[in-house]
Amino acid sequence: MHKVVEPKILYFGTPVVLISTLNEDNSVNLAPMSSAWWLNQSCMLGMSSSSQTVANLLRERECVLNLPSSDLAHAVDRLALLTGRNPVPERKANVGYQFEPDKFGTARLTPQDSDLIRPPRVAECPVQLEARLEQVHNFELPSSLKAIEVKIVRVHIDEQILMTGEKNSSFWSISKFC
Ligand SMILES: Cc1cc2nc3c(=O)[nH]c(=O)nc-3n(C[C@H](O)[C@H](O)[C@H](O)COP(=O)(O)O)c2cc1C
Repeated sequence: MHKVVEPKILYFGTPVVLISTLNEDNSVNLAPMSSAWWLNQSCMLGMSSSSQTVANLLRERECVLNLPSSDLAHAVDRLALLTGRNPVPERKANVGYQFEPDKFGTARLTPQDSDLIRPPRVAECPVQLEARLEQVHNFELPSSLKAIEVKIVRVHIDEQILMTGEKNSSFWSISKFC
C-alpha cells in the first residue's frame, strides 16, 4: 500500500560533497552539500544563494568538490551548522547556524594546494575534483536556489581506491562515501 503525503521538501539523500571556495579576503571556506549530480566531466550543484559558497563561486568561478569517505562523517557533522557568511542570514540564525571563519580548523581537516585553481583540496578526502564555473541557472523562482554547473578540470584519486592495473578507473563503492 502507498500513501499520498505532502513533504515540506523532497530529499532522498545523496553522497555528501565538501566544497571548498575562496572568500573575498583569500581565506578558505568549506561547506557540506549534497544536491549534486554528474554528467561526463561536469557536475550540477543545487545550492542556496544565501550561502557563502555560492557568493564565492560566483565571484571566483572556482571550487574543489571533495568527496569524503564515511570515516569523515564526524568532520561533516562539525561543519553542519556553520556558515562562512557574516552576519549569519536571519533564517539560518533562527535554526542555530553560527558564523565560522575557520572551517578547515573546526572540521579538523587539512588544506592541500590544488594544481590548477586557487581554492585548496581537502587532504583527507579520497576524491578531490578541481572545478571551474560554467553556468548558473535560477531554480524554482522566486526561491534563492540556484543550479550551478561546474566543469571538472582535474581529478585527484587516492591510490587506495584506484582499481589494480587500471590507470584511470577508480573503485566507486557508494557505501564508502557519506
Ligand atoms: C549533509 C549536508 C548536506 C547539505 N546539502 C546542501 C545542498 O545540497 N545545498 C545547499 O545549498 N546547502 C546544503 N547544505 C547546507 C549548507 O551546508 C549550509 O547552507 C552552509 O551554511 C553553507 O555554508 P556557507 O554559507 O559557508 O557556504 C547541506 C548541509 C549538510 C550538513
